[in-house]
Amino acid sequence: MDFSFLLDLFYVKTLLQGVLITIVLALIAVLMGTLIAVIPTYFRLSKHKILNFIGGSYVEIIRGTPLLVQVMLIYAIVKLPVMTVLGMDFGAFLLGMVALIINSSAYASETFRAGILSIEKGQKEAGLSLGMTEKSTMLHIIMPQAIKNIMPSLGNEFVTLIKETSIFMYLGISELMYSAQIVKTSTYRTKEVYIVTALLYFVLTFTTSKLMSKLEKRMRKQDEK
Ligand code: ARG
Repeated sequence: MDFSFLLDLFYVKTLLQGVLITIVLALIAVLMGTLIAVIPTYFRLSKHKILNFIGGSYVEIIRGTPLLVQVMLIYAIVKLPVMTVLGMDFGAFLLGMVALIINSSAYASETFRAGILSIEKGQKEAGLSLGMTEKSTMLHIIMPQAIKNIMPSLGNEFVTLIKETSIFMYLGISELMYSAQIVKTSTYRTKEVYIVTALLYFVLTFTTSKLMSKLEKRMRKQDEK
């Protein structure tokens, strides 16, 4: 084992840049995915049979097929001209991002649905019996409680996405896994580079998980006050 490549500033910079891009990709995907997830969730909770079917199919199909296939499929269907921004193909970045956001929206939608359905029926009945409309019951009674169940799962989704962004390697986006390839091919230290890469992913996901559970605990404490 020879980890001396870590003494070379160029390799360290390449890997750290990969870490940064990985975080940015995961952050954009989880934020946008969560936003978009509102639509399939609304469809799935609707009493309208067709909307229900569309929302359900969207989530099932996306969750039932590999992310890698989705990325490759979008990439094969949509042809964008090569646009180089900051040394990477912006078209590839855009398509990869769209695939990841769509993928994340299906998982987030399931989280939303479970979070909302976990609030007992009596809460809705109480709102309605007070003369509140269905919409306002949802917004002011169900949602504030459901959010507390949803937040931790969205934190988990972020952690998952940190790992899933490694798929961008195939699109030539210099996230952590791609950076690892660069370091590997110029140092020939395959084992060592992958060990360092795994460690970097672990540090990222572990600290995120810890931060999330801290946040969750704080939210609970505030609730008990
Ligand atoms: N790697 C798995 C797949 O390809 C999991 C994807 C998980 N995605 C997510 N947004 N949580 O299907």
